[in-house]
Amino acid sequence: MNSDQFEAIRQNAELLWRRDQIENAIECMAKDITNDFRHSKPILVGVMNGALPFFARLMLSLRFPLEVDYLHASRYGDQCVGDELSWTVEPSVSLQGRDVIIVDDILDEGITLAAIADYCRRGGAEKVATAVLVAKPKEKNEHVLSADYVGLEVPDKFVVGYGMDVAGYGRNLENIYALDDQLQSLLLS
Ligand code: IMP
Ligand code: MG
Repeated sequence: MNSDQFEAIRQNAELLWRRDQIENAIECMAKDITNDFRHSKPILVGVMNGALPFFARLMLSLRFPLEVDYLHASRYGDQCVGDELSWTVEPSVSLQGRDVIIVDDILDEGITLAAIADYCRRGGAEKVATAVLVAKPKEKNEHVLSADYVGLEVPDKFVVGYGMDVAGYGRNLENIYALDDQLQSLLLS
């Protein structure tokens, strides 16, 4: 992505959610998570890289004891076919007997989160919950898994910003935008 393309997203792409709206939604999720986990010293596991800004913001709003860790797994990696996840980094804290909250950017079909949740259970986690910043509508793609905590809904379009990328770029856009087919093919070409 070059600077003109970056600006084209900011100027021409459909603005779905502004930073202040996103951060309000994260505050609401933090309240719900606090109610459910404040006494269980959970591990908050961020799915890199998309979860990065959401993860940072969320953990600063959780005012109870917790540990943080991260993993790097993605479905849309270069060599990824179908439901297979490519793992780059696994969590380093033992999940045995722990409550784990998996934090990710977006729930699309839910395949990524389902596979990660499964991995955490196999690692001995006592309870596994999932928190996503945004979710695409359920009607179209019946989710394999629905998230326990969802910040905001987005339409069934390709979205970018606040952690989410198009071909590796755009994660640092402060708002969330939807790309139309024309802009998307331009950015992916
Ligand atoms: P799922 O397995 O179908 O739920 O896909 C979820 C993963 O795909 C997310 O963690 C994102 O990395 C990526 N993804 C899905 N939809 C989008 C999108 O609209 N924009 C950016 N990344 C997306
Ligand atoms: Mg991701």
